[in-house]
Amino acid sequence: MENKKVYLNGEYLPLSEAKVSVLDRGFLFGDGVYEVIPAYFGRLFCFDAHLERLNKSLQAVRIDLKLSAEQWLDILQPLLIQGDVQYIYLQISRGVASKRDHAFPENCTPTIFAMCSPITAFPKDVGVKAITLDDMRWELCNIKATTLLANILLRQQAVEKQCAEAILIKNGYATEGAASNVFAVINDVLVTPPKTDDILLGITRDVVIRLAKENNMQLKEEPISLGALQDATEIWMTSSMREILPVINLDNKPVGTGQIGEFCLSMQAYFQDYKRAVL
Ligand code: PDD
Repeated sequence: MENKKVYLNGEYLPLSEAKVSVLDRGFLFGDGVYEVIPAYFGRLFCFDAHLERLNKSLQAVRIDLKLSAEQWLDILQPLLIQGDVQYIYLQISRGVASKRDHAFPENCTPTIFAMCSPITAFPKDVGVKAITLDDMRWELCNIKATTLLANILLRQQAVEKQCAEAILIKNGYATEGAASNVFAVINDVLVTPPKTDDILLGITRDVVIRLAKENNMQLKEEPISLGALQDATEIWMTSSMREILPVINLDNKPVGTGQIGEFCLSMQAYFQDYKRAVL
């Protein structure tokens, strides 16, 4: 096992020594929330936005933990490896209870775990395949909860069909990917589903929206029907792990020309410039 140092409840330990009780509610119930924060050149990207979303997730699942940005940075920064493209995985579970019971235990101290890993990037100049699948997840997809069984099953179905992602369809409309947000170019307008509880409010999504506006790319936050998605000239997935990933084949049919589109190439360039500017 890779024996890098990880953070667990106030200590930095070799990965092999970081142990959590089997009564931890994260283990028993997936009762926890998490963040994935990319870091470039040894610096965390969009840290404030990730922290704001983490605090919203904690509040939504009623885990009582409030650390300041400085306290979080003190915990996370020692994990970063200078120079690499990497990400911090940060998970907070409700903690260890004395017995297994669905309702919240009393006086439970949250378990805080964080580790840093390299990001294995998709080659920027190659598009990927995706499939559409029924979005059978729950109604609070805005919470970044560790309870990810539905997302896992959906991603696995995609992978078994040699696809990089599943695009999820709810009541005839695209919501997001199994672990990413979705954008489509429809009649030369960049479209992404609006902010609702049906999607995770991706930090990469927000950056892309902002860059589209700053660069006068026409953009709409509105529902995308399955039909509109199938007719789109471009589809991209966005996430902290994959940045802006072009989908060139959907359900075994080429998207647009079947090549990475002009809008995507422009946005990828804006994104790289933005990274350099803010870090
Ligand atoms: N997932 N939607 C879902 C369901 C996600 O799991 C993710 C990211 C996103 C994109 O969010 P962001 O741009 O903030 O990364 C959207 C992470 C990377 C994961 O679970 O590994």
